Amino acid sequence: MKMFVVFVILLHVSQHASAVELYEGDSFILPCQFPSFDLTEPTVVWSRSDLSPPTVHQRQQKRDELHDQNQMYSGRTSMKSDALETGDLSLNLTNLQLSDSGNYTCSIRDKRTGGQRTVTDVQLQVKEQFPSWAKALLVLLVLVLIISGVELDSGVTSVQLPCKTTICLSKDAKVEWKDKNNRKVHVYEKGSDQPEEQHQVYRDRTKMNEDLLKTGDLSLTMKYPTDGDNSTYTCTVYSREGNMLMKKQVELKVRVPLVEVDSGVESVQLPCKITLHLPEDAKVEWKCLHDSKIHVFENGSDQSEEQHQAYRGRTKMNEDLLKTGDLSLTMKYPTGWDIDTYTCTGPNTLLPIARRQQGEECV
Ligand SMILES: *[C@@H]1O[C@H](CO)[C@@H](O)[C@H](O)[C@H]1NC(C)=O
Ligand SMILES: *[C@@H]1O[C@H](CO)[C@@H](O)[C@H](O)[C@H]1NC(C)=O
Ligand SMILES: *[C@@H]1O[C@H](CO)[C@@H](O)[C@H](O)[C@H]1NC(C)=O
Ligand SMILES: *[C@@H]1O[C@H](CO)[C@@H](O)[C@H](O)[C@H]1NC(C)=O
Repeated sequence: MKMFVVFVILLHVSQHASAVELYEGDSFILPCQFPSFDLTEPTVVWSRSDLSPPTVHQRQQKRDELHDQNQMYSGRTSMKSDALETGDLSLNLTNLQLSDSGNYTCSIRDKRTGGQRTVTDVQLQVKEQFPSWAKALLVLLVLVLIISGVELDSGVTSVQLPCKTTICLSKDAKVEWKDKNNRKVHVYEKGSDQPEEQHQVYRDRTKMNEDLLKTGDLSLTMKYPTDGDNSTYTCTVYSREGNMLMKKQVELKVRVPLVEVDSGVESVQLPCKITLHLPEDAKVEWKCLHDSKIHVFENGSDQSEEQHQAYRGRTKMNEDLLKTGDLSLTMKYPTGWDIDTYTCTGPNTLLPIARRQQGEECV
């Protein structure tokens, strides 16, 4: 189970900040207090302006009104039954997820006057954390992919960024996927993909469903995801006139899981497996965080002269790695000096775990 650290920052009220440690799936209370109720028919709205629809939860008099609720929060929110009597408008958010990070506004609307006022803004930051006990151990790291909390094998060759809409899209609708740096990842317009608009980092690596206008499934398939693809991706839909119809964010994360051993063991294995066939002349490199080469395999054999001297004679890869795709590295006599992040890289177009340099083109 993943562990999260949740930072809660009350923006308006006091700039008061607190942090709690919770696990994935835990529930959590977003605070909001309103001392007096002189309104006749008040509605309480919890919302996030970066979402469409923005409503997280809505309460009228004695009952919830969830028609407009963003589907991300479906079945995960509740307020106390006597909230409008006591003024405790806090929101209970269950099944905590990384994508819950955002700015939440708790506001009250008076149906009679039509007026609306903000009671509290709460900034929620959900970050992933390794459990603290892990730090005390000798820790070696390898790469695995996660998307929106879904963990995938390190051998995955593609990942799907989910985006679905219930809006009926006309033939002229435009769908645009962008990354955090505002680079175009994929553009669909006038009934077809527009590859010339896309940033070269994503060239030949993205795909959308063919019948997306009919099904409303605007999910993006990205091939060979690497940790360089860490980003928040935005799926935006525009009408023919250029009006924004919908906007959704998906976070792609490459997590770094742990390999733990007690000190004093004879050897440790850093796992790295792929499902693709490698050519005879493939080059596979293991590096540590500071880019020193730990092990190099090229043209069918180990290239020990390229290896950093601290690792000489201490590393081994499987002999039939080209056939099996098992690129795991065995490191002998690990010590505290070996605590590091290790990366297994290979031909860019073949190895999903390879780190792609920004702007580099795939062959
Ligand atoms: C929040 O809701 C969950 C699920 O209904 C419940 O188990 C939990 O006790 C609630 N938390 C509080 C503080 O009421
Ligand atoms: C939330 O509000 C804070 C402070 O106004 C701002 O720095 C931050 O960027 C906002 N976050 C989002 C996701 O809008
Ligand atoms: C990708 O995100 C993970 C999780 O936040 C982080 O640990 C890792 O360092 C990031 N990698 C890159 C290359 O930014
Ligand atoms: C691997 O083979 C290629 C092509 O024969 C050659 O250019 C390259 O120098 C070789 N590399 C090593 C490390 O032997």
